[in-house]
Amino acid sequence: MAELGIADLLRDGDRSVKDLAAVTGTTVEPLYRVLRALASIGVFDEHDPRRFSLTPIGEFLRTDADVWEYRRAHPRDGEVFDAAMRTLAAADVQARISVYDFGRHRVIADIGGGTGANLASILAVVPQARGILFDQPHVVAGAGSVLAATDVADRVEVAAGSFFESVPAGADLYLNAGPLAARPSPAASVGSPRRCRVSQRRSERRSATDCSCSC
Ligand SMILES: C[S@@+](CC[C@H](N)C(=O)[O-])C[C@H]1O[C@@H](n2cnc3c(N)ncnc32)[C@H](O)[C@@H]1O
Repeated sequence: MAELGIADLLRDGDRSVKDLAAVTGTTVEPLYRVLRALASIGVFDEHDPRRFSLTPIGEFLRTDADVWEYRRAHPRDGEVFDAAMRTLAAADVQARISVYDFGRHRVIADIGGGTGANLASILAVVPQARGILFDQPHVVAGAGSVLAATDVADRVEVAAGSFFESVPAGADLYLNAGPLAARPSPAASVGSPRRCRVSQRRSERRSATDCSCSC
């Protein structure tokens, strides 16, 4: 579905499966079966005769969907996401620590660092380092208890904002676990990495193990 761009084709309203098949160069019947299967789990709505539209969930298959904006507007779902991120950070932090010497850095910034689980896990094993946690305001609002639980709160400066605007200066290592690279918009693929590069010039280096933005 993503490769065919069906969600983008439904952006302005419902369309017939015949129309969708013609535009995507696919065959009507198999496409109809896939669309109907996805409608049965709430990705599309099916209307007679054989027309489909996007549901609120299906909207997030659009290439211009902003999943972070969805999170902001749905705090309960955001909490679930943040909890999942904490679990992931706990699961792979040992691997990161074993392959990268975080001990060579004085100030480690985690850009899009969520509620701080990843940064806290790193600081816990690098006691001389300080941290900067940067994420959107509604996300870092939940960082206090995470940082306190790992006993690193007094070494972390929490900063709120959007990395499309700027990122905090002053770190000698910038981590980014994917949100810059994952953004589909031109602003993300051009603007953010440029700003990230500016931050890098001020810094000594960034982690090859963690920073997946293309800067
Ligand atoms: C994959 S999660 C990283 C989770 C984090 N490593 C942790 O341990 O919880 C990506 C993060 O990027 C943040 N993010 C997305 N867009 C952002 C923006 N424009 N500015 C700052 N942070 C953003 C999200 O809020 C989310 O917390």
